[in-house]
Amino acid sequence: METRVEKIEDIEADKPILDYAAKLIRAGELVVFPTETVYGIGADAYNTRAVENIFKVKRRPMDNPLIVHIASVEGIYELVRNVPKIAKDLIKAYWPGPLTLILPKSDKVPYEVTAGLDTVAIRMPDHRVALELIRKSNTPIAAPSANTSGRPSPTTAAHVIEDLYGGIPLILDGGRCSVGLESTVLDISGDCATILRPGGVTKEMIEVIIGKVHIDDRVLEPLEDNKEARSPGMKYIHYAPKAPVIVVEGELSRIPDMVDKIAKGHILSGEKVAILATRETANSYIGDGYSLFIIGSRDNPAEIAANLFATFRQCDSEGMDLIIAEAIEETHEGLAIMNRILRASAFNVIYAD
Ligand code: TXA
Ligand code: MG
Repeated sequence: METRVEKIEDIEADKPILDYAAKLIRAGELVVFPTETVYGIGADAYNTRAVENIFKVKRRPMDNPLIVHIASVEGIYELVRNVPKIAKDLIKAYWPGPLTLILPKSDKVPYEVTAGLDTVAIRMPDHRVALELIRKSNTPIAAPSANTSGRPSPTTAAHVIEDLYGGIPLILDGGRCSVGLESTVLDISGDCATILRPGGVTKEMIEVIIGKVHIDDRVLEPLEDNKEARSPGMKYIHYAPKAPVIVVEGELSRIPDMVDKIAKGHILSGEKVAILATRETANSYIGDGYSLFIIGSRDNPAEIAANLFATFRQCDSEGMDLIIAEAIEETHEGLAIMNRILRASAFNVIYAD
């Protein structure tokens, strides 16, 4: 299949391309579009054949449900049985934005979208191109991240091209995604609100609005076989670059020495080693033989979030054999960052003492 890649710089000037994109969605085709979090690969949520095609193109396991994207708050009402007060409060505070809400689904939502579940995940993205595409398509758009299953989510159109070129008719290029990690997935379908996947709307931000929320056990720990995953997406190793990842945690002052020691061992055996460091620790890495990536400042985890997946992909394109990442504090966006890094490493953590 021929894949068109079209830059969208201005919603008005680029109207013909957006009209064409909406026409594709209406015709049951797939369109890749930018959001504030990561790029999504979208289909008409009510077209079951189009939705099934998403799973094929990105080789996604069939039991992993999709998020439905809407362009107005009112759009939620046809997708769910009812909208509880906590949903209304969260929507008022954080939509459009990187917060996905899980609620019992209405009969209109096909089981192809929810992978057989009776709940549906919904969000309103904070990106003009995404909102315009949904509006023009005049239907909710089901869209997972536009990567091949298991790879880091794409934060630029170039990342999408790496994974999906030739498999889809159109990629809308809206530049770099500002958040850089996927949305927070919050399950409010039951009695207690639970974060299934941390993201740009942080636990702290949610608690300001609705009080105490739970964090699902698997956010920072591997899935035990005997427990059923509440969010099917958490069963799979996610966000993984091709190179193995080692996470080094411990007291900040001790981390660089341990990272350095691990790096040296691997360099001696001829491996290309990448170190993912922070501005606070960068000066401690004075050894040679490794590539140092400064992914942001610990004082500004949003910056680290925005750079993480792009850095993983850069490590791949530079042929790295090993990535050693410093752990960061699990507060604010740090929780989402550690969730992604730990999964990318398959929970391979070394303690610096
Ligand atoms: O930021 C984002 O959320 C991006 C952009 C494109 O919007 N989308 C995204 O979609 O990350 P995806 O499919 O890669 O991740 C959706 C996550 C998966 O972990 C899935 O298991 C979970 O949401 N999910 C979807 N529906 C669910 C449901 N009904 N119950 C529990 N988890 C659900
Ligand atoms: Mg994904």
